[in-house]
Amino acid sequence: MKIDNFKVEDWFNKYEHLASYDMADTCVESLSLDELFNLIGEKEKHLESIMNRKLNYGDIQGSERLKTAIKSLYKTDFPITITHGAIGANSLVMQSIIEKGDKVVSIIPTYQQHYSIPKSLGADVKIVYLKEKNNWLPDLEELPAIVGNNTKIICMNNPNNPTGSVISEDMMIKIIDIAKNSNAYILCDEVYRGLEHNHCRGKSIIDLYDKGISTGSMSKVFSLAGLRLGWILAPKKVMDKIIIHREYNTISVSILDDYFAAIAIENKDIIIKRNLEKILQGKEIMTKWVSEEPRITWIEPKGGTTCLLKYDVDITSEELCKNLLKDSGVLFLPGSTLEMEGYLRAGYCSDIKNLELGLRKFSEWLNKK
Ligand SMILES: Cc1ncc(COP(=O)(O)O)c(C=O)c1O
Repeated sequence: MKIDNFKVEDWFNKYEHLASYDMADTCVESLSLDELFNLIGEKEKHLESIMNRKLNYGDIQGSERLKTAIKSLYKTDFPITITHGAIGANSLVMQSIIEKGDKVVSIIPTYQQHYSIPKSLGADVKIVYLKEKNNWLPDLEELPAIVGNNTKIICMNNPNNPTGSVISEDMMIKIIDIAKNSNAYILCDEVYRGLEHNHCRGKSIIDLYDKGISTGSMSKVFSLAGLRLGWILAPKKVMDKIIIHREYNTISVSILDDYFAAIAIENKDIIIKRNLEKILQGKEIMTKWVSEEPRITWIEPKGGTTCLLKYDVDITSEELCKNLLKDSGVLFLPGSTLEMEGYLRAGYCSDIKNLELGLRKFSEWLNKK
């Protein structure tokens, strides 16, 4: 099976280790186990419980404790399975549903899985771009024309990486109506759900649509990307297919990841409060900087951890990022890796201490152009 290079991951592999000021990360500053226990308490009890566990395969579909914790994030009781991160979740959904020749509509910019995996499976992939003039929200006049009545699945991500836009419930219902016309599934990658900046967790696609499929993970909302743990909630008919594929590439996830994920989600309010504080602190710094930097504009993000910056320099985003990194040690993600030339993606929640410094260095660099 041929597949395109994963441009974002390629970029990080090549350049992240060279950065002094990493402004490209999508995680809210990751937690160590010590920090996790400082937040949620009962360190001794948890450590004792995990130290005594046999390191066998554990519960193949994920422990009941973990699945119960995850289900508390949703209102609808859909079948669930545990995966290797959201990356494993998205991949399993697509492998299980999409067949050669199927029409797939992908709303981009987004995580590249959402268009490159369908393409690699031989699907007829139709792209719908989020546009700045629509505040990075889907164009509801364009979408129905592209979805038509023969789309198998719409792949999307809400809240959106990289733009930070958040689709409201009203708008999601309109998108669902468009999908219904085609009897299409909607895969909504919800790895940033819970990080809405107004503190109101948006409704999941599965709580709105019986052909909705939700993927999520510990990486962003819980700052525990190192657990490599994600999940899928999907209608039974879809989940039956997913389970077959999952048996070939997962068996189970680590029982350690399963345990730590469960206790983190059981304490979701504490962890999300910590993360939203960091996000809003980072956003305040970014907002002030953008308002004072004449060569940068943006649409203010409403959710998640990232934003797109439009720059007024006559140079490609890749050249800009490479030169900036070489000259100043500041790392952004070039828009070209997201099919968004002319923009940079910034993450503003990972290293708040360095954020101001990195932005100052970027301004100095821009002043010399
Ligand atoms: C939209 C989106 N989906 C999926 C992933 C992968 O997440 P995970 O670390 O849970 O595999 C990312 C990671 O950046 C992401 O931004």
